[in-house]
Amino acid sequence: MYTSFQSLMDDVAACEKCGLSKTRTHTVFGEGNIHAPVMFVGEGPGRDEDELGRPFVGRAGQLLDKMLASIQLTRNDVYIANVIKCRPPGNRDPEPDEAAACIGYLRAQVAFIKPRIIVCLGRISAKYILGQDIRITRDRGVWHEAKGFFIMPTYHPAALLRNELLKKDAYQDLLAVRAKLRETGGLTR
Ligand code: URA
Ligand code: SF4
Repeated sequence: MYTSFQSLMDDVAACEKCGLSKTRTHTVFGEGNIHAPVMFVGEGPGRDEDELGRPFVGRAGQLLDKMLASIQLTRNDVYIANVIKCRPPGNRDPEPDEAAACIGYLRAQVAFIKPRIIVCLGRISAKYILGQDIRITRDRGVWHEAKGFFIMPTYHPAALLRNELLKKDAYQDLLAVRAKLRETGGLTR
């Protein structure tokens, strides 16, 4: 258990719990509003994120900003994190042992932030947050309730960059997130 958010951040910055510590440039802890009612959780840092130490700053991140804007949110209204805090070489999927080593940090972030809503960006994120293997095209947009959180898997913005046709469904999911925010009293404007 962490007594402060800062001590959690310090632990991640110094972490060597898995092999990804050897190849990373920077850890990517996450950022945003620690009082946010909603967290968006991706898979892990890519090249740009590894270089800058910040989440979703590359092309996928720019699209994530647009996705947020489409439901009148900015980065200051949400908290953005990843399942894995260090970049897997070549952007490969994280190995299960790497995810297992790292997921405690995300859980601790969630415990501090206590969002009402967690949006899983992509299959890998959903897999480790929900603890089940899903198919994103089939299972996106569905609410799961666990431990007092509303959790929804949707497309990763990188998937939307690869296939524009998915954007329509992604937007429906975002509208559902906005509606759930309103329903749970998390919308201040
Ligand atoms: N993709 C992710 O899953 N996370 C990031 O931070 C950037 C790209
Ligand atoms: Fe530690 Fe997570 Fe980085 Fe592995 S990926 S070294 S567990 S912070």
